[in-house]
Amino acid sequence: MILTENQRTKLDESDDTLFYLSPRFVTHVDQGFVRQLTNLYRQRLRSDMVILDLMSSWVSHLPEEVSYKRVEGHGLNAEELAQNPRLDRFFVQNLNQNQHLPYEDNTFDAVLNTVSVQYLQYPEAVFQEIARILKPSGIAIFSFSNRMFFQKAVQAWRDGSELDRVALVKSYFADSGKFTPAEVIAQRRWLGDPFYAVIASKKADAHGESARVGL
Ligand SMILES: C[S@@+](CC[C@H](N)C(=O)[O-])C[C@H]1O[C@@H](n2cnc3c(N)ncnc32)[C@H](O)[C@@H]1O
Repeated sequence: MILTENQRTKLDESDDTLFYLSPRFVTHVDQGFVRQLTNLYRQRLRSDMVILDLMSSWVSHLPEEVSYKRVEGHGLNAEELAQNPRLDRFFVQNLNQNQHLPYEDNTFDAVLNTVSVQYLQYPEAVFQEIARILKPSGIAIFSFSNRMFFQKAVQAWRDGSELDRVALVKSYFADSGKFTPAEVIAQRRWLGDPFYAVIASKKADAHGESARVGL
């Protein structure tokens, strides 16, 4: 396990579902961050891909001009997800209560997660699940900035520096044993939200393993 019990704690320990009960039609990062992320997706994703946007909301950061084979979404607020123009389907699930993702092994070519990884209390199990549902060599792109709902971020995130957070996400990939060494893109701006992306691919010979095992 990467996180200690203390490091998983949140200042607001109430059910996350309550926090996301009302839709928030806001953007969580600035335009510079979004431009950089969309460009990254333009470079790393192909139109024939089946994509899962994990911990999504009403906005998509996928390039508008590209149509993908299928885009699925997940989050905690159905009203937000219903407004997301890119999602062919979505489901609502609290990942701090249930880490099992409702997909067959080897379903997706790409799993995306934007400005949300800090809310995961059991990242070890979630990353195992991401590996399981990714096809061999499928890509996972985790991006984040320095903004957060502080009371809902886990202690390990709150207490760390920005570089500690990059190292933490790298360790989530590495500890799973299912991913290639993670690549990091870090872009600090004089004015504007810093951009971090941690990217890894599922090892071609990695076998899936349900998150329910061992929890
Ligand atoms: C800051 S928003 C980011 C939304 C979106 N990825 C974006 O880029 O705008 C954080 C998202 O994390 C998701 N989230 C937070 N806690 C969660 C939990 N316990 N289980 C599942 N999803 C959660 C919610 O769907 C929420 O929309």
